[in-house]
Amino acid sequence: MQPYLIAPSILSADFARLGDDVQAVLEAGADVVHFDVMDNHYVPNLTIGPMVCTALRNYGITADIDVHLMVKPVDRIIPDFAKAGASIITFHPEASEHIDRTLQLIKESGCKAGLVFNPATPLHYLDHVMDKLDVILLMSVNPGFGGQSFIPSTLDKLRQVRERIDASGYDIRLQVDGGVKVDNIAEIAAAGADMFVAGSAIFGKPDYKAVIDQMRDELAK
Ligand code: DX5
Ligand code: ZN
Repeated sequence: MQPYLIAPSILSADFARLGDDVQAVLEAGADVVHFDVMDNHYVPNLTIGPMVCTALRNYGITADIDVHLMVKPVDRIIPDFAKAGASIITFHPEASEHIDRTLQLIKESGCKAGLVFNPATPLHYLDHVMDKLDVILLMSVNPGFGGQSFIPSTLDKLRQVRERIDASGYDIRLQVDGGVKVDNIAEIAAAGADMFVAGSAIFGKPDYKAVIDQMRDELAK
C-alpha cells in the first residue's frame, strides 16, 4: 500500500473552472480527488452530484475520485455515482437505515467502500463491518463547510481506530478530513492516519505544488 495519500477536497476548488483546477492539483502531486457531496438536509450546505463527477471523467480526470456522501437517504444515489466514475464511496452511518446493506451496495457497484465518523459519532458502528471496509474516515470538523479548525480530540480517536485496523488485519485506509494543514499533518499521521483530505490548505494557496511538497516533507520527518 502506498504509505500516505493526499486527497485535495474540491469543495475549495474554483467551481467555475473545475476541470482545470482538478487537473492542476493532480499535476501538483495530489493522489486522489476528494469529492464532497452535501444535500442541505443531512448537512447545512448544498454542493455537487453525479453529473459533476461524470463531467470530470469526460474532461479526462483519471485519478481516483473519492466521493464523500453527506446525504440522507444514502442508498439511491450510490448507483448514480458508480456510473459517474466514482472510485471510493464513503457515507455517514447515521444517514443510512441499513449500514451493512449500504456497504454491500457500494461494493456491488464496483467501488471501494467506507464509513465516515463525525467528531461525536461513536466508533461502535465499526463493530460488525470491518471486513467490508476499504476506508474509515474520521471527520476532524463537523461536516458541511470547508475552512474550519481541526478538532484536537480527533487525534485520540485516530489512535483508537488505528489500533482497531491493525488488530483486524484488514487492509483499510484511515482517512482524516477537516482542518488538515502543513503545520498539523505530521501530528495527524503520528496518530495513525494515512490518507489526508485538505481543501482550503491547498486550494487557498496559489502554488498547489508548494503546499503538497511541504505536506510530504512533514510526512517524511
Ligand atoms: C467538510 C468536508 C471537507 C472539507 C475540508 O464537510 O467534508 O472535505 O472540504 O475542508 P478543509 O480542508 O478546508 O477543512
Ligand atoms: Zn469531505
